[in-house]
Amino acid sequence: MYDFTPAEGASKPAVYAALLEAAEALTAGEPDSVANMANVAALLGEFLPDCNWTGFYRMVEGELVLGPFAGRPACIRIPIGVGVCGAAARGETQLVEDVHAFPGHIACDARSRSELVVPVIRDGAVVAVIDLDSPDFAHFDDEDRAGIEALATLLADRI
Ligand code: SME
Repeated sequence: MYDFTPAEGASKPAVYAALLEAAEALTAGEPDSVANMANVAALLGEFLPDCNWTGFYRMVEGELVLGPFAGRPACIRIPIGVGVCGAAARGETQLVEDVHAFPGHIACDARSRSELVVPVIRDGAVVAVIDLDSPDFAHFDDEDRAGIEALATLLADRI
């Protein structure tokens, strides 16, 4: 049985440190990328408060394709450069306070109001993005960005 949960009342950096530790433990030595993304998507859903969607899109033959996630069913394919995920697929983290103000935002879940999308880069190429959605305006900040970017670095050769 796995029982990974952040300590009650932990600060955001402490939550991300615990999340990284859990992700490291769950993916160490496991070569199956779907299994690793599935467990990390579940961890994100468990550890991060007030998120309605946490998960992965994978780069498959030049477009993003839905990967493991926690949340409601979502759009399956996203072209590079389209929406928040498609922008991140070009290699830059996207921290969006208000998705309704983001040109081309793709509304997979009408509850989403703010979003953080971080590319996972291996050997200089984007292989996936980690996508977090929140129903709250400006939910994510630079501590979230730093935490998810560290997670993306950890996962680069595990997914
Ligand atoms: N809103 C995203 C699409 C993916 S869902 O949020 C799960 C976007 O604009 O790329």
